[in-house]
Amino acid sequence: MWKYYTSCIGCKQTMAITGQLLCAFVVVHLAGNLSLFAGAKAFNHYAEFLEGLGATIYFAEAGLVALCLLHLLSALKLTLENWHAKPTGYHGGSMNTPNHWASSTMPYTGTLIIIFIIMHLLDFKFAARPNDGLYGLVKGELSTLPGAATYLFFMIVLGIHLFHAFQSAFLSLGLDHPKYTPWIRRVGYVYAVSMVLGFSAITLFFGCQ
Ligand code: HEM
Repeated sequence: MWKYYTSCIGCKQTMAITGQLLCAFVVVHLAGNLSLFAGAKAFNHYAEFLEGLGATIYFAEAGLVALCLLHLLSALKLTLENWHAKPTGYHGGSMNTPNHWASSTMPYTGTLIIIFIIMHLLDFKFAARPNDGLYGLVKGELSTLPGAATYLFFMIVLGIHLFHAFQSAFLSLGLDHPKYTPWIRRVGYVYAVSMVLGFSAITLFFGCQ
């Protein structure tokens, strides 16, 4: 197992699988957060439902932390190896790659996403809740200009990362086919744009209040 993980292909496949599972989390997280549009009662009810799941939610959170760590360590290992092998940049950054600009910035957008997640958890997960619950916390953060601008900035960074990540994961898993790869790429673009628009809509909903 350790031998597989430390091999180049094992590391790439681990990054691809953990990346796809994290992509799925982002969809579920956006779907849940869309209930913010329905108001305080609906969103707090959703949050209470999640908290009421007890051990299941702790198990899911532990899984999420494990996925993030595995993804991060694999990305770090591959990036360092590629910088040593080819000091000009990230491995996905061939000038022939259609989205060269997104692939060559993966280590930087990835680092910014880590910063975002730490900030985000401090904002919403580990902060004291006001009287109107988790909804009030989100509203308080996103209805200030610096808060909304910071979130919009990070949503664009996330979009750039996802823009390349989705299709790259399929290639790392060997799922490359002249007929299907262009479609996988298109689905990846739609996915990245949908996530950016969805999270940005929530941010603007509060930012414009
Ligand atoms: C407008 C955008 C977003 C809003 C309003 C939002 C809202 C929230 C809230 C309210 C929580 C706390 C949940 C709780 O304590 O029960 C949370 C947790 C979290 N969010 Fe977000 N989120 C946003 C974007 C994102 C994005 C883009 C990511 C991923 C890149 C993300 C990753 C997470 C993670 C990992 C947690 C911790 C989950 C857990 O421990 O259960 N969020 N978010």
